[in-house]
Amino acid sequence: RGMPRPRMAVRSTTLSVVPILTNLQKNCATPLPVLHHVADAMAADMRAGLAVDGGSNLKMILSFVNSLPTGNEKGLFYALDLGGTNFRVLRVQLGGKDKRVIDTEFEQVSIPPELMFGTSDELFDFIASGLARFVQKESGKFCLPPGMKREVGFTFSFPVKQTSIDSGILIKWTKGFAVSGTAGKNVVACLNEAMGRQGLDMRVSALVNDTVGTLAGARYWDDDAMVAVILGTGTNACYVEQMDAIPKLRGENSASRRMIINTEWGAFSNGLPLTEFDKDMDAASINPGEQIFEKTISGMYLGEIVRRVLLKMAEAGALFGESVPEKLSAPFVLRTPDLCAMQQDTSDNLEAVGSILCDVVGVNSNLTARKVVLQVCDTIVKRGGRLAGAGIVGILQKMEQESKGLIFGRRTVVAMDGGLYEHYPQYRRYLQDAVTELLGFEISKNVIIEHSKDGSGIGAALLAAANSKYAHEF
Ligand code: GLC
Repeated sequence: RGMPRPRMAVRSTTLSVVPILTNLQKNCATPLPVLHHVADAMAADMRAGLAVDGGSNLKMILSFVNSLPTGNEKGLFYALDLGGTNFRVLRVQLGGKDKRVIDTEFEQVSIPPELMFGTSDELFDFIASGLARFVQKESGKFCLPPGMKREVGFTFSFPVKQTSIDSGILIKWTKGFAVSGTAGKNVVACLNEAMGRQGLDMRVSALVNDTVGTLAGARYWDDDAMVAVILGTGTNACYVEQMDAIPKLRGENSASRRMIINTEWGAFSNGLPLTEFDKDMDAASINPGEQIFEKTISGMYLGEIVRRVLLKMAEAGALFGESVPEKLSAPFVLRTPDLCAMQQDTSDNLEAVGSILCDVVGVNSNLTARKVVLQVCDTIVKRGGRLAGAGIVGILQKMEQESKGLIFGRRTVVAMDGGLYEHYPQYRRYLQDAVTELLGFEISKNVIIEHSKDGSGIGAALLAAANSKYAHEF
């Protein structure tokens, strides 16, 4: 009554948030010249990484895969897939050219988060015990002739310096894994030891990156598959390279004409349009300064970038009213699937956006705030999708230079997999648009970007078949 009312600084949400949004959009913009620059830089970094080990950010890892599946593969094979949020075991019976995949069965479990920060033995024991349980369930259904071991293709989706098709040393962990005692070790030996502890007598016939597995899986059905890209928790790409374009090979494997190269493009960083939010997120990450492309375009990080933008908008621009919602300060609470779910809301009052914001970050939002949130999501997702598209064009350009016209002049398939690509329609569209803008309508008609669902599991099994010790006995 007589008391003076405390003066509330009533700021208009729209007004105070606008400069932050405009700035974000400006800094994340990917007009054609930026995309061209990224594509060219990708191609140049690839070349430098093929020249010598350590020649560029891109490791350009030799996969020792010199031939891709033909369809003639036969027999019973297994695959193990470790690399993101899930761990998978798969069995496949291959019936050769006409019958192809006779039967397949798989099991999937999510990786307990504590294993991502545990010891190497704990992680490999978990993998081996998953495999052991899977095999035990068969209860004699699939008998192998005496003297033969079950063979497995091991998809291990981290940077590994391969020393042969069935061995390789972990260079470093990515995607939030920080398992102690694996870096510098042969991961196949780690798996063999863990299988031994489980009393499991199987042979790892192929060690492959998920991109390489995906390319093998796609090639099984389509002879024009030349590139594979993963857009999931992390991101990476592999492609078919000409042997004489790999100077660092120095005569090794010279009997073959081609080899699949795992680019590890997640480590690319040249000329990317980055913001203060990206830089802060990187600085706070467990691998600062590393995997910058991955941190800009892949599923593990898009939600976190948006959260950081919204936090600044809440603090400096009162996006959600006067107080800053507590939950919004928790790293990684907002996940990329949440952005995706919000972006599918086309209703007038953005009901779904409101309830996701309420459930996930504990805020009540008005329509203006919801619209701003959607614009932030769109800005970050658009930048991610378009940069991924530019990366793909960079690879195609490099292949075109090497093969002198054999890529753009004919049908070329880019096999895609990963949850981000599979489940985020806007991301997919931005990616495709960037590829079309960069290549032009005519050439881009020859470049088929195709989802190859779970190709990496079958692909790893196919590569195990190709490198089977017993193949001739089937
Ligand atoms: C990370 C890994 C890479 C993998 C990619 C997609 O970038 O380093 O090996 O292919 O994620 O899973």
